Amino acid sequence: MQNEKIKKDYLEKIKRFKDYNRNYYHKSRPLVTDAEFDRLKIEILDLEKKYKFLSSSNSPSKIVGFKPSKNFKKVEHKVPMLSLGNAFSEEDLLNFEKRILNFISQNKNFEIFYSAEPKIDGISASLNYKNGKFTTGLSRGDGKEGEDITDNLATIKDIPKNILSKDFPEEIDIRGEVFIQNSDFEKLKEKFANPRNAASGSLRQKNSKDTKKIPLKFIAYTFGFEKGLKIENQFEYLKKLNEWGFKTNPLNKLIKGVKDLMINYSEIEKKRAELDFDIDGIVYKVNNFHLQKRLGNVANAPRWAIAHKFSSNKAISKILSIEIQIGRTGALTPVAKIKPISIGGVLVSNATLHNEDEINRKDIRAGDTVTVERAGDVIPHILSVDIKKRPKNSLKFKFPNKCPSCGSKTVKEFNIITKKNDAVRRCTSEGYECEKISIEKLKHFVSKEAFNIDGFGKKIVENFWKLKLIRLPQDIFQLDFNKIENLDGWGKQSVANLKYSIEQKKNISLDRFIYSLGIRHIGLENAKLLSKYFKSFSKFKSLSENNKYDELLNIDGIGETQVSSVQNFFSNKINMDVLEKLQKILIIKNTLIEKKGGLLNNQKFMLTGKLSGISRAEAKSLIEENSGTTISSVSKKLDYLIVGEKPTKKKVESAKQLKIKILDQEQFLKMLNKTS
Ligand code: IVH
Repeated sequence: MQNEKIKKDYLEKIKRFKDYNRNYYHKSRPLVTDAEFDRLKIEILDLEKKYKFLSSSNSPSKIVGFKPSKNFKKVEHKVPMLSLGNAFSEEDLLNFEKRILNFISQNKNFEIFYSAEPKIDGISASLNYKNGKFTTGLSRGDGKEGEDITDNLATIKDIPKNILSKDFPEEIDIRGEVFIQNSDFEKLKEKFANPRNAASGSLRQKNSKDTKKIPLKFIAYTFGFEKGLKIENQFEYLKKLNEWGFKTNPLNKLIKGVKDLMINYSEIEKKRAELDFDIDGIVYKVNNFHLQKRLGNVANAPRWAIAHKFSSNKAISKILSIEIQIGRTGALTPVAKIKPISIGGVLVSNATLHNEDEINRKDIRAGDTVTVERAGDVIPHILSVDIKKRPKNSLKFKFPNKCPSCGSKTVKEFNIITKKNDAVRRCTSEGYECEKISIEKLKHFVSKEAFNIDGFGKKIVENFWKLKLIRLPQDIFQLDFNKIENLDGWGKQSVANLKYSIEQKKNISLDRFIYSLGIRHIGLENAKLLSKYFKSFSKFKSLSENNKYDELLNIDGIGETQVSSVQNFFSNKINMDVLEKLQKILIIKNTLIEKKGGLLNNQKFMLTGKLSGISRAEAKSLIEENSGTTISSVSKKLDYLIVGEKPTKKKVESAKQLKIKILDQEQFLKMLNKTS
């Protein structure tokens, strides 16, 4: 089943690849950008690497380019025109170098020189010279067979027709790139989508007079067949090309090692926008020809060369729909479902729209053509909308006033810290009353930092929810395993494993338990603070009985936001029921405070003002390391007030009134046997 789906996906990609390829090479009418085309190629190659059963004669691993157009005579390349593997990162380059070193059985001290050549985004051509005379010029075609476009190539001024130099080989195929400079393209803008299409279209004109009108350029960078070439390395070859009358890229460099390749890469990337020709990366070639020969080729690319592509982390796609996702804490997040597109090698089909204000500000609508950006591991987002491409009947997006899951009212809460309304709209239900929130809460409950139940991931939560096997956390510990065993994809062994991992996690520490409840504003750190303070589950739960929530303010790090959130949690009947049920099922371990012999011997400290040469966080951890605790308000419970620079006068005064010992930095450090 799974394999069939993979195959279907793969064949769909191959079909798309074939289509793009045909339009690109045959009709000179690309359907997508080069970057998109490259990405599709990578996706297909990745799938083939991962699933060995996938293969197609139309795969980019089997063909280079596409069959040449029928308008021109086909001629076989004496030496095939290869393509290049791609690298996107330093890691890819290190692997490239590692593969070379392994291949020639050398260790990493072996120094490799590379010819680093900015990769012009044009059309490659192979020019045959016999005794210094330009005879035939071929396009790449499918790499094996090219089109005879001699007449059109002959119109290019940069291509020498007669070379008289004595050291010019008896016969050679000089290979390089035909392209149009950006400044020249300006005048052709109406006719072609981009400089590359303009070059490709011009080269394919039936009448070379038409080609001649277009200011095509040629730069040379490699060779195919040769007889009588007496040169030992690529950089020397590039120099010779100049001497023979060819143009080469002025930004070519000879570089040793990956580290310097990276430096050169970022320098060129910065210059890229100022250049008068498009480059989409840098080609690195092992400089030494002897070494190149040893390394040879893999499939249709040489082992000794690679194209280091410039990262493209943006892509254009279309919004299919705007959906509202509901998070564990009730936040309504609008998400754009976009036409799947690969960005930097990752297939993206969702982009966050952040919140209601963001949608309004950018006036983002379903059906819009948008630029999507993906940076690092952050969720992709929408950079801009192409208003010109907006469909006529498009409607402004209306953010729902009611929770799409449970129908409760949604609100933008007032934030006591910023004194503004939140940008985020929330469902006002208390949690388990709302289906979507419940599912998210359950996912959180079993997650890594909470109960960490092996094999109980997000997908299982969703599945079990659909099958009505779980509704509340306690249900996880009372699953009907007989029913599960009969489900699709489950068997005796997998059920036994699940049963075992759930059983194991019935024993849990108080901090993890508090965290797993998913109380808003109580993340891992705060859960730890609460567990340290209460030490046992029963004391924590008694908060609700005593209604002494303000007591929580004594904990350094817990503020009013957290207190009101905890209060909210306990005032919900379902939550209380969940706690009661879980208490019967679980063993919640008390929090042990290591008090053994610390210098501060369980004394309570508070800090006001700035210490010199030691941060507040460091002072706090020093106290805790030495068995002391810190609290955040002056009360009778406090043992010491540490006073730094510019203290809060009120705190010092009330400490004096309560006869609490006051320490300066030096006295405090002395207690720890330290001096400042
Ligand atoms: S060398 C065996 N050098 O990149 C080496 N290619 O994907 C193959 N290209 O077909 C070519 N600048 O169209 C080489 N300095 C350069 C290049 C370069 C651009 C293009 C060329 C080639 C493609 C490889």
